[in-house]
Amino acid sequence: MSLPCFVANWKMNKTVAETLSYLTLCQQWLSKLPRLSCEIILAPPYTALFSAGNKIKELSLPIGLAAQNLYFEAEGPYTGEVSGRMLCEAGCQYVIIGHSERRNHFNENDSTITHKVQAALGANLTPILCVGENAKERLEGKTLQVIQRQVKEGLSRMDGGASHCMIAYEPIWAIGTGKTPTPFEVEQVHQKIARTLIEIGFKQRAPVIDILYGGSVSVENVAAFMKKPHVDGMLVGGASLSAETFMNIVQVGIGA
Ligand code: 13P
Repeated sequence: MSLPCFVANWKMNKTVAETLSYLTLCQQWLSKLPRLSCEIILAPPYTALFSAGNKIKELSLPIGLAAQNLYFEAEGPYTGEVSGRMLCEAGCQYVIIGHSERRNHFNENDSTITHKVQAALGANLTPILCVGENAKERLEGKTLQVIQRQVKEGLSRMDGGASHCMIAYEPIWAIGTGKTPTPFEVEQVHQKIARTLIEIGFKQRAPVIDILYGGSVSVENVAAFMKKPHVDGMLVGGASLSAETFMNIVQVGIGA
């Protein structure tokens, strides 16, 4: 079993200075813990990655670094884009791929996303593939079908079983709304993801694939989600912008 994992997706928030102050608060919090029985990953915006990577190294913090996106080509005339190799150099070990905000605002589709997953693995980055149904699909009872399609498509260029990857189930209607599915519903979707992984050739779900939940995660609801057997961690948006709140979520989530 891998350790429970907590990812902070800051989206388009925080300057370099704010990122460095956040890391100082993390250091203070971590120094009070006897040991850390989980993985913590921060996903700042592109502009803060390099400084964050340096600070994490300088302070020897047990914190992973994720980018929020990448482009699937390695280099070339792609104005405004950033490749996996560049993210590694900036200190990243992870990259979020296919977040619903990218699918909706930037027209990313399953085909773009599968190329990005492949490019991330090629650059030695662990992809955090986001999947999730919208409100209409949920009402129509299509949740499991949508999730299965997104997982299959997203991983279709991945060598089954060999590489490390994370999947984040983020129902679109739960993002930033304060609404969430019940822990039982989340467990059902995570089980479906686990079954889909086996169908497409991943012999064992753990430890190569962690399945996270994201969407209005808070100090109040994290424990109920984390108690479910197929929930390996959380992808936290708004509530991760305060270091104190995020650390509380982590602490409650690991039952510390
Ligand atoms: P919120 O936690 O703000 O709902 O955002 C979730 C999310 O999109 C994380 O990637």
